[in-house]
Amino acid sequence: MSRRLRGAFAALVLAAGLTMAAPPLAGPAAVLPYQDPALPIPTRVADLLGRMSLDEKIGQMTQAERGSVSNADVTNSRLGSVLSGGGSAPSPNNATSWANMYDGFQNAALATPLHIPLIYGVDAVHGHNNVVGATIFPHNIGLGATRDTALVQRIGRAVAEEVSGTGTDWDFAPCLCVARNDRWGRTYESFGEDPEIASSMTTIVTGLQTGGPSVLATAKHYLGDGGTTGGVDQGNTQISESELRAIHLPPFQAAVQRGVGSVMISYSSWNGLKSHANQYLITTVLKTELGFAGFVVSDWNGIDQIDGQPGFTAAEVRTAVNAGIDMVMVPQAWRTFISTLRTEVQAGRVTMARIDDANRRILTKKFELGLFERPLTDRTWTSTVGSAAHRDIAREAVRKSQVLLKNQFGVLPLPKTANKYFVAGKSADNIGYQSGGWTISWQGSSGAITPGTTILQGIRAAVSPGTTVTYNATGAGIDGSYKAAIAVVGETPYAEGAGDRPGGMGLDSTDLATLNTLKASGVPVVVVLVSGRPLDIAAQLPDWHALVAAWLPGTEGRGVADVLFGDYNPTGTLPMTWMQSASQQPINRGDGKTPLFGYGAGQQFPATQNPYNIIGAVYYDGQQGTQLERCTDGGCGQNVGWIATGDWLYYDGVDFGATPPARVLTRLASGASTTGRIEYRLDSPTGTVVATVQVANTGGWQSWVSRTVTTGAVTGVHRLYLTFTGATAADFVNVNWFQFSR
Ligand code: GLC
Repeated sequence: MSRRLRGAFAALVLAAGLTMAAPPLAGPAAVLPYQDPALPIPTRVADLLGRMSLDEKIGQMTQAERGSVSNADVTNSRLGSVLSGGGSAPSPNNATSWANMYDGFQNAALATPLHIPLIYGVDAVHGHNNVVGATIFPHNIGLGATRDTALVQRIGRAVAEEVSGTGTDWDFAPCLCVARNDRWGRTYESFGEDPEIASSMTTIVTGLQTGGPSVLATAKHYLGDGGTTGGVDQGNTQISESELRAIHLPPFQAAVQRGVGSVMISYSSWNGLKSHANQYLITTVLKTELGFAGFVVSDWNGIDQIDGQPGFTAAEVRTAVNAGIDMVMVPQAWRTFISTLRTEVQAGRVTMARIDDANRRILTKKFELGLFERPLTDRTWTSTVGSAAHRDIAREAVRKSQVLLKNQFGVLPLPKTANKYFVAGKSADNIGYQSGGWTISWQGSSGAITPGTTILQGIRAAVSPGTTVTYNATGAGIDGSYKAAIAVVGETPYAEGAGDRPGGMGLDSTDLATLNTLKASGVPVVVVLVSGRPLDIAAQLPDWHALVAAWLPGTEGRGVADVLFGDYNPTGTLPMTWMQSASQQPINRGDGKTPLFGYGAGQQFPATQNPYNIIGAVYYDGQQGTQLERCTDGGCGQNVGWIATGDWLYYDGVDFGATPPARVLTRLASGASTTGRIEYRLDSPTGTVVATVQVANTGGWQSWVSRTVTTGAVTGVHRLYLTFTGATAADFVNVNWFQFSR
């Protein structure tokens, strides 16, 4: 049993009131009470606390960044914690290298007189995302779209295994922020705009902390970071206490009820007071009212912001600690912090009671994690980093996070057997773009930054061997002969304030140019939007036949193709209200504003999906004698024209299922002076006729009408032909789309 499992299991068993044999100690025999795992944790904490000097206690409250501290510093300054900031990794950046780094720091901590292990924190916010080769899961906004709390717990478990496999034992996740204004650069770190989603998704805390090698989870950022005015990161949340309690507090209540081990304070202010200075919120509400028994950590240099000036003062140190912050994240200035806090305690401006309370909380979590018994990396978990099993969970999460927002003519799912598809868009073949911020580096970046499957690779893997997939990022080279164009577009990576969008929230010029190129071809366009939030797309939407919100899926891009080609009927629903215009921000459920798509929106494939979605003559897989031309019918790019007797179109792999269709609707136009007819036939140009449509002049070549006729009994899979006959004129009809139905 791994050290963490033993520790956590022990905690669980003891919590359950059961007794269990004390696990055998791998290290030296227990010589002092606090080193005896058979004793209750409060007893061990009390014994250890009684042996600690002031400096040792202050050391436990100090968290330094790995790049600013040596192993010797850890020993000499009695540091209780080290962290990796976003992208801060050992070289080479791989799981084993991380484990070696961790063990180095840990052995340095164990070299202190009392051998108190340190706790190492990382932002594993969508997988162990600082580590090359780790599984990268969808960011929280995508997980919110799944509404699948059990899945999210399994993700927590998988992340805990990968984090443990590198030694690290504290995850600064989940963000339980409730993003109310999508302009905020951290919107994608939110599970949704309504607290109900984040509260339900605290199952990830259970996944991270129990059921295997456990890591300490962190509910962040307390409190109200997602409610700042204008969506300004680290800004001011100007709302009443009742609204703060109704919108932003519930997820933290849920996390505390699930036993979350730590809470991180928000940079933001509430009605002008920085949360890092807010004793009412931290001590009165969180610790006393909610009964939070874990420990509270500041954000990165968060105490510096209390007075609005760079750096921190003695006043800020004592204000933060007296407000109830137990551990302070001082990445570089940790020496100054230690000496400043020592002075404040010696001057009586911070009481020993406060210092002891902070230490009691921190040490309790270290004992519960089993760090005293098993302080070093349990390398049995190292091989789980990026494992196939974890990537399968991630692909499932990608599938379930896709939200189908438009599906004109039932164009989705696309048939795998079509002759050819055109893929375009800057985000189609880019692991970095599809993963977003907090991936390998803090801000994220472009390119093959870590092993994974791009959305394009997923598309190629999904279609049949005979189907050609052409890719060009700008759409150059597309023509009307493709079954459909798949445009994968959206945002490039960002994190925190760098992602704030105070101005426009539309697609960038690169994507707009690509989409225009595709539109000009007349080929139906399926848009896959890779973004960390809803974007302002109302103006472009009418040109799109389908829209799938993919969010930031991470390394397992195949999950997008699972939906596009029908291997998974989409179940995702919007966790955020989708604006009609950026000027509507903030826009949330129930605020009376009219959205483009409402909170909870999301389509499934039509029940009559297959074979009844054979729509859009330009989707044909083969034709003889016809040509494409610009079309003015609603939603139409191009129609099939120049049709004479003897011409035909065909569609491959039409599966009529076991229940025959009742009728077929054909969308046609004719400027001809003669009549003719369209015959729907099976398997060959001279095969069985299942429906016949009489064609006469409709008033012009772009005067479109719908003609419905009954169909003969047809079931199973066929190549479906449209044959054109009976007309004396060289050109007698134009066809836009048709639809079979029951
Ligand atoms: C960052 C973020 C916080 C993160 C911390 C450590 O600035 O605000 O979410 O956990 O610093 O990287």
